[in-house]
Amino acid sequence: MEKVTGRAKYVDDLSFPGMLYGRTVRSTIPRGKILSVGLDPEFDWTGFTFVDARDVPSGGRNLIAAIVEDQPCLAGERIEHREEPIALLAHADRGRLEAGLARVEVACAAEPGVLDLGRATEVHKAIAIEKGDLAAGFAEADLVVEGTYRTGHQEQLYIEPNGVIAVPGEGGAITVYGSLQCPYYVVRALRVLLGLPESCGEKVRVVQTTTGGGFGGKEEYPSLIAGHAALLARKAGRPVKMIYDRLEDMVATTKRHPAIVRHRTGVKRDGTLTAIEVDLRLDGGAYVTLSPVVLSRASIHATGPYRCPHVRVAGRVMKTNTPPNGAFRGFGAPQAQFAAEQHMDRIAEALGMDPVLLRRKNLLRVGDTTATGQLLKGSVSAAEVLDRALARHDELLRRNKKSLQRGKTKRGRGVALFFHGSGFTGGGEAKMQSRAALELLPTGARVLVASTEIGQGTRTMLAQIAADALGVPYEWIETADPDTARVPDSGPTVASRTCMIVGGILKRAAQAVRTALGDYATPEQFRQRARALLDGRPSLTFEAQYEKPGEIESRRCGTAPPGRTSAGGAEPSQGSAQEWDDETYRGDAYGAYAWGCNVAEVEVDPVTWEARCTHLTAAIDVGRAIHPMLVEGQIEGGSLQAVGWALSEEVVMQGGRMANGQLTNYIIPTALDGPAMAVEIVENPYPGGPFGAKGVGECPMDGPAPAVVSAIRDAIGVRLDAIPATAERILEAVDRAAGAVSEAAARQVAR
Ligand code: MOS
Repeated sequence: MEKVTGRAKYVDDLSFPGMLYGRTVRSTIPRGKILSVGLDPEFDWTGFTFVDARDVPSGGRNLIAAIVEDQPCLAGERIEHREEPIALLAHADRGRLEAGLARVEVACAAEPGVLDLGRATEVHKAIAIEKGDLAAGFAEADLVVEGTYRTGHQEQLYIEPNGVIAVPGEGGAITVYGSLQCPYYVVRALRVLLGLPESCGEKVRVVQTTTGGGFGGKEEYPSLIAGHAALLARKAGRPVKMIYDRLEDMVATTKRHPAIVRHRTGVKRDGTLTAIEVDLRLDGGAYVTLSPVVLSRASIHATGPYRCPHVRVAGRVMKTNTPPNGAFRGFGAPQAQFAAEQHMDRIAEALGMDPVLLRRKNLLRVGDTTATGQLLKGSVSAAEVLDRALARHDELLRRNKKSLQRGKTKRGRGVALFFHGSGFTGGGEAKMQSRAALELLPTGARVLVASTEIGQGTRTMLAQIAADALGVPYEWIETADPDTARVPDSGPTVASRTCMIVGGILKRAAQAVRTALGDYATPEQFRQRARALLDGRPSLTFEAQYEKPGEIESRRCGTAPPGRTSAGGAEPSQGSAQEWDDETYRGDAYGAYAWGCNVAEVEVDPVTWEARCTHLTAAIDVGRAIHPMLVEGQIEGGSLQAVGWALSEEVVMQGGRMANGQLTNYIIPTALDGPAMAVEIVENPYPGGPFGAKGVGECPMDGPAPAVVSAIRDAIGVRLDAIPATAERILEAVDRAAGAVSEAAARQVAR
């Protein structure tokens, strides 16, 4: 309601007395050495605050705290990418600030850089997954099929660009307001940068402001921009606002990792997969950032949702001298499954088999093991989403005959099957030990979580879980703003974990409230009990912490009185402890998977070679749709974002810098470009999730690109193996295919 009425305050709507504006001085070369950083002595620097690497406080570290300590907050000696921040400038007047920016003097000695994944040799991180005996698997095969697939960068293109305000306090304290996904990530990064350990109490506070989209692009980047604003604010002794404009946001911030994926697959004549070998390379950019975990998710999903006894996945993130790539909805899985699904089509063609039949034959079912050896015990829906997507797609076509219907337009259909693990990989959740709390109020309860609303419906969905778990009306539940001075650390808002993981913890906090209140039958009784328990106090906080599903199960089996269940929904009945070995990459990679199937219909114009997706059906198993309309919105939005990645979104890099950092030539689909869409919500409950729910945020991003590219192949008989499938790329593929045909014809004649 606040967004619709315009009452919501985004970070750029906020202002503080004495506030300055901050800007970043960036490198103009992709790689080299910094010789000097200085200020033009001819310029009037009155009222300016200038910060460079030398301003990082003693005790602090010039570092963006992440998995690996390689990225400086401000480059002091070396340049590793074209947009690397070198210095910061602040002024109360934005016009003066721009004038000053042009007078900061940076001298560098340029060195040759690696600007392309194809040429990269330095490895940020490598992962190997081994299952069975690959050689034996290939020995069993009647046929070995090979293919190489490429995907490009993708910009998150949230409507609101990255932005923060840093407000300095007493004794080095700092408060940051910002557009961000993960308040506690920013707290940690600021503590490291400013040298304020946890023993410094409340000195670092981060408040998420109303956020206009994230899609992963506000997972790690806010740690950097918050650090910059904090350095300026502490030096100036005044609040500093830093808001990127669209160009700066597009050229300088993280994007989806480009990928090159090679598949080699052994298959029997009847279509049974006997061996899968995948070599997966991601372009990490200049610094490691989140790449190891993106690689991890990509590698685990690299075989697609298929059964195969013998698997080897070799994944590597390579270093290039381009801005670091990072989190983007799907987190490596879309790249990996684009390749896996294109390859399934290539195998089907080699066998002369219907591609749907090939998928049906090999798809994962209960009792199968994944590439990491995870035994799938329940909530496995690959077969069901396939059937339901195909049925629903027929209905969509019957009901929606919309089509360009230009004379010679060629039409085609493609199908993609996919899965997506919910929550952190492996032991990530157990290690993170996220917390969530409920504040009992005389009127109901208040949700206290660090999970952020970024347009996906977090607030509504968590309030629903709290209301149902307490057995009170939804209207009785309030939600606190994600302010680290107020809410516990629920972990980051990423990895399709907010509903399944944080929702699960919140549900247990609600159970603690119920226990404290004793049995009550009606909402009115809840209020009576609450008031009695509060005894005049304004509130009482009940906190819960993450527990492995298996531990919840065994504890509940041991203590639950017969016949009594908490408020409705599925209860753990088959959950089991998640076991994972990070050394060998064996075990239960995720507590649960969402399963998805897309059917895409495309039209290709054989004169201009433009491709358009006209109809798209998505069937996604989310366990339990806590709020069906929001779930549908997540599926539609993620699917459309993937159609853009497949067809039109092309990041053009020139000299290590994005050359098309504007909405005029980085083309995302609008409602007018989008296909007619049908969303089929499948509910196969996961006992370890709240009311059976799994994750939905990322899964819809995994399937549309391979489905659309398969449909193009079906329409024009030419395989692309790379996205985006722009008219230029399709023409090139058509020419290549024609060339190959005429070469073959020429050889035939010569013989
Ligand atoms: Mo998300 S791509 O896990 O921020």
